Amino acid sequence: MPQMPVTVPFLDLQQQIAPLRDEIDTAIRRVIDSCAFVLGEELRAFEAEFAAFCDTRYAIGVDSGTSALHLILRGLGIGPGDEVILPPNSFIATAECVSLAGATPVFADVDPQTHQIDPECVRRAITPRTRAVIPVHLFGRTADLNPLLALTQAHGIHLVEDACQAHGARYHGRRVGGFGIAAAWSFYPGKNLGAFGDGGAITTNDEALRDTLLQLRDHGQKRKYEHAMVGVNGRLDNLQAAVLRVKLRHLESWNAARRRAAARYTALLAGSDCTPPAPLRPGEDHVYHLYVVRHPHRSAVAAALQENKVGFGYHYPVPLHRTPAYAGLGCGPGSYPHSERLADEIVSLPMFAELTDLQIERVCDVLKRAPLVSG
Ligand SMILES: Cc1ncc(COP(=O)(O)O)c(C=O)c1O
Repeated sequence: MPQMPVTVPFLDLQQQIAPLRDEIDTAIRRVIDSCAFVLGEELRAFEAEFAAFCDTRYAIGVDSGTSALHLILRGLGIGPGDEVILPPNSFIATAECVSLAGATPVFADVDPQTHQIDPECVRRAITPRTRAVIPVHLFGRTADLNPLLALTQAHGIHLVEDACQAHGARYHGRRVGGFGIAAAWSFYPGKNLGAFGDGGAITTNDEALRDTLLQLRDHGQKRKYEHAMVGVNGRLDNLQAAVLRVKLRHLESWNAARRRAAARYTALLAGSDCTPPAPLRPGEDHVYHLYVVRHPHRSAVAAALQENKVGFGYHYPVPLHRTPAYAGLGCGPGSYPHSERLADEIVSLPMFAELTDLQIERVCDVLKRAPLVSG
């Protein structure tokens, strides 16, 4: 009998959900039976459990990672005339939140090895208008927080973690999410901790900020119809909270499986034209939301992956300062050379906790045999 070729999806949520199906169905039924869909017990329980997981005093459930970032900036009083520094190689939400708050995004280039924002570039980007820096723990790898914390403290500005890709990562042994004034989390379905739709959270140790954020996410009200400020409808709903409570219990083991898959990829790709993620430096951690390699002939590799039915992606294909959305900032080609070069060379390979050794071998085989045509 001819052997079926091994196809490898980029992500396979069916496999993640199947073994949890009964537990999740029970949790969903519990919410439906209670008819408490908004701001109820499930949300409060998830917030307590997620805060405990992140080792922070508070977690506030919101409707997306984008809202989390936006509301943090609003809660800190950041607005028109203010500048916020962030890396150009992130999902657009990291910049959008700054624009939504009425402030100006200012980019700082990244370390080409780690892909994370470079503290030295941040230092050069600080002006008297700078109010905050948003390091992104990109791909699930921890950003270089210690020098950034030293910088932000010295300048009296805020550090806001974009932890939307880094659920469970630790920096020098401590969970990310509590290093700055606040951290933003996304529970978009494909994240390491994903809901059944959009969702997000904010973690913080600051009680006053937490009180403001609770109001901002709920139309600026503390009590019904007492609107102390202009807020948004940005609540995480109880159905999502119930699903997330089930999944949170598996996050550590999923992250361990992702790390094992990453190690297998890295071992198999040794000596090939693919550059795997740089080894972790002391104190760093990686939860491999994405496993991203560099290749000098990216388009040839992409064609081979496509032809062999291997899922892949580019995270991200266009640095934020080169998107039409941010053309108005006037950052031309060459403004952030490391981010620009990475955008041309990166390929994200299939990565999820249930990925098998056979699938990883298949992906590496395809990569190693890709004809090296320049592109
Ligand atoms: C780094 C980063 N920041 C922010 C976001 C925004 O999160 P959401 O899609 O939940 O709005 C994402 C989600 O993809 C992200 O990856």
